[in-house]
Amino acid sequence: VRLTYELERLVKGAPEDKKESLNRQFDGFIRLFRRFLQEEGPSVDWDRIEKLPDESVRDYATLPAPTTDEVHRMLDKLVVVKLNGGLGTSMGCRGPKSVIPVRSDLTFLDLTVQQIEHLNRTYKASVPLVLMNSFNTDEDTLKIIRKYKGLNIKIYTFNQSCYPRINRDSLLPVANNCDIESDIEAWYPPGHGDFYESFHNSGLLQKFLEEGREYCFISNIDNLGATVDLNILNFLLHPADKSPEFLMEVTDKTKADVKGGTLIQYENKLRLLEIAQVPGDHIDDFKSVKTFKFFNTNNLWCKLDAIQRVVKDGSLNMEIIVNNKHLSNGLNIIQLETAAGAAMKCFEGCLGINVPRSRFLPVKKTSDLLLVMSNLYSLKNGSLVMSPKRMFPTTPLVKLGDNHFAKVKEFLSRFATIPDLLELDHLTVSGDVTFGKSVSLRGTVIIIANHGDRIDIPSGAILENKIVSGNLRI
Ligand code: UTP
Repeated sequence: VRLTYELERLVKGAPEDKKESLNRQFDGFIRLFRRFLQEEGPSVDWDRIEKLPDESVRDYATLPAPTTDEVHRMLDKLVVVKLNGGLGTSMGCRGPKSVIPVRSDLTFLDLTVQQIEHLNRTYKASVPLVLMNSFNTDEDTLKIIRKYKGLNIKIYTFNQSCYPRINRDSLLPVANNCDIESDIEAWYPPGHGDFYESFHNSGLLQKFLEEGREYCFISNIDNLGATVDLNILNFLLHPADKSPEFLMEVTDKTKADVKGGTLIQYENKLRLLEIAQVPGDHIDDFKSVKTFKFFNTNNLWCKLDAIQRVVKDGSLNMEIIVNNKHLSNGLNIIQLETAAGAAMKCFEGCLGINVPRSRFLPVKKTSDLLLVMSNLYSLKNGSLVMSPKRMFPTTPLVKLGDNHFAKVKEFLSRFATIPDLLELDHLTVSGDVTFGKSVSLRGTVIIIANHGDRIDIPSGAILENKIVSGNLRI
């Protein structure tokens, strides 16, 4: 009750033209907060997890390709959505993550635009691109997308919700007023699970339904493998039986992905299970790559009329992720978030589809950036394609030291040119290390400069199964 009162007080002090939108956002926040207070214990009972039915995860390889004639009509039914609420802070950049250059000076946004523009040109289609921004990314994104004017692509944006951070002790909002700029730390975007409601509230969902569009393809803007896949779209639009309302692209889990969300069957429905929901004594079971074979790529295909239904009837009940944080003034706060994939259990006729690993190419760290900037890939119409010269389909395992390589600017300053990685299996670099021009790294390479030392790998060096440490070269 006190929280509701406090929120009402915040709205009262806000400018008239902001009140309606604030009230709508706070309604969503109060619903989430109420659920948080009411729900106790883990959201899954481990013993009630059922075996995944065989038909629940389709093998991508079995999907038929559509004919070129069909593609044009199919694309009229599609909307592409990129989740663009996140910042580039984890890679030491200011502003939206999507504006970090990742390949040939092109940003995540540039590559996405190139991909869809190419699709529209090739099939004489008009697939729209929708960006879900947050209050953190909206202004910069709007400035940048002006440069795409005149291209064969319509770009729409909408803002996801802005929720108040809550003091962990008093359970009341940290904010004193609704002027976000004046105290930006008092607010947060509540995770990508917010997509469904915010998309609906923006009016865009209704607009696309009226245009006769049927499905949206949602993905993280930092996943360079998340291109529009025509075989999946064909499968959705021409089902043998009823068309699925929700499809999650999963891929084989390896030991490097044990923390990723997985698909389970629970209460006769498919749903996403995230590590945060797993009871403490089952964490090792969850991490097993044998028991849980797949993980969620967060490439999701969702039927537009089904989104409208679940939002309107209030049946979206995604698991709440409680994120504990400290603000710069030392205050302990909580922020409640949800994940888009967790909505799966709220839809009918859901499916997983086991896609090739190449559809999951996220850039979270500079070690990922090293791979995507290198000769392991070439760029084709905005999509990264693995070089046929790579003997194995897997990507090398790369670890770059946090102190000297974590920020994009620092990382770039340490490479005169990006080394040849075609034959690399494993690279570990730690400490003050720089790379000259045209270096080639092959097999397993470990370079460790101890504190106070510096290692400069000379131009043209070929390091094959080598450990380089201090002044010692083996
Ligand atoms: P995350 O920061 O959640 O990365 O952003 P992650 O933890 O690897 O991803 P998940 O949650 O496991 O899938 C994933 C995408 O979601 C957007 C980011 O911009 C990024 O594209 N995002 C995240 C939003 O749009 N809004 C949010 O509130 C959070």
